[in-house]
Amino acid sequence: MQNKRILLSSRPSGRLDDTNFELRTEALPALADGKARVRVVYVSLDPAMRGWVSSATNSYLPPVPLGDTMRSLGIGIVTQSCCEGLAAGDWVTGFTGWTEYLDVDEGQLTIVPSTVPMEAYMGVFGLAGATAYHGLVKVGKPKAGETLCVTGAAGSVGSLVGQIGKALGMRVIGIAGTQEKCDWLVKDLGFDAALNYKTDDLDAGLQAFAPDGIDVHFENVGGRPFAAALRNMKAFGRIVMCGFISVYNGDKTEEVPDMTAVVRRRLTVKGFVMTDHFETYPEIFKALGDLLQRGQLKYRLDVVDDLENAPAALNKLFDGSNKGKLVVKVSGPEAARAM
Ligand SMILES: NC(=O)c1ccc[n+]([C@@H]2O[C@H](COP(=O)([O-])OP(=O)(O)OC[C@H]3O[C@@H](n4cnc5c(N)ncnc54)[C@H](OP(=O)(O)O)[C@@H]3O)[C@@H](O)[C@H]2O)c1
Repeated sequence: MQNKRILLSSRPSGRLDDTNFELRTEALPALADGKARVRVVYVSLDPAMRGWVSSATNSYLPPVPLGDTMRSLGIGIVTQSCCEGLAAGDWVTGFTGWTEYLDVDEGQLTIVPSTVPMEAYMGVFGLAGATAYHGLVKVGKPKAGETLCVTGAAGSVGSLVGQIGKALGMRVIGIAGTQEKCDWLVKDLGFDAALNYKTDDLDAGLQAFAPDGIDVHFENVGGRPFAAALRNMKAFGRIVMCGFISVYNGDKTEEVPDMTAVVRRRLTVKGFVMTDHFETYPEIFKALGDLLQRGQLKYRLDVVDDLENAPAALNKLFDGSNKGKLVVKVSGPEAARAM
């Protein structure tokens, strides 16, 4: 049996391209004792992957070594097991990497119930959902009636942040990069307002929506939207620092945020990374499951077919052409079940 995987072959400067990766097809060895074989169904494409392929060693995960399978989260189905804790048919999620198959030890991936659609584990019950909930609820400490602003609002994290904020009784404004995304936020997800950072006057829009200022700001992108939010914070407001996608490719920020506001407005600014909080996932997913059941959460997936397309697809996160949680479909679940 053959396996396809994608290796990191060089480190990019600027945007990733095909030359940074190598597609390798090779025969799968016999399954070793104590291991289970997983057929990957979806791999997740996340902005953080741009950092993982850089040589920077001062981050929360080490760089992916050159010549290794590209690191990514994913979900798959156990097709064969020589290990006590895993059985054929189990759904497992975690760091699968860009590969069709991988052989794992017990505990390397997490078994998840097959009672919800598999796609949910890539979005609402995956990193995006955990990040949105932990960041807003545990870091932002929101209260009903407060005003929430979120950037990258139509993305996988941002769209959930705004909806969780609405479920908690907040007034929510989102900032996104197209009119279609802004319409989706207001008309489909129930945001109170949305601003297009490419065409709207952000200060005017924020002042009209939040004349007394923003209580909680959730930052996903950095640059001009962040600078505008910072200028419009209420005294003693909280800023949740989740990500800075605008600079991950090494682009210069088009506007340097004026951090003196942190002192003038006596703001609390806190960063977090979800890989530090794996133990809280069950509690978070219970809370998100309740919101889903009550119809208070919607999510959308942007599915790219075929593992070979993963490197090119990753750039959709940086040009904004993804509509919702970006994933690659590596195989149909039926393919894994048939093994
Ligand atoms: N701290 C953590 O543990 C953690 C975990 C997961 C994700 N994150 C961070 O959360 C953020 C969102 O991640 P995601 O997975 O939900 O991605 P996403 O929002 O689904 O996709 C990325 C979006 O970012 C926007 N964007 C790209 N370049 C931009 C720029 N120069 N200026 C403004 N917006 C830009 C684009 O939307 P527009 O069309 O609106 O421009 C794009 O669709 C990222 O910064 C990521 O690193 C952090």
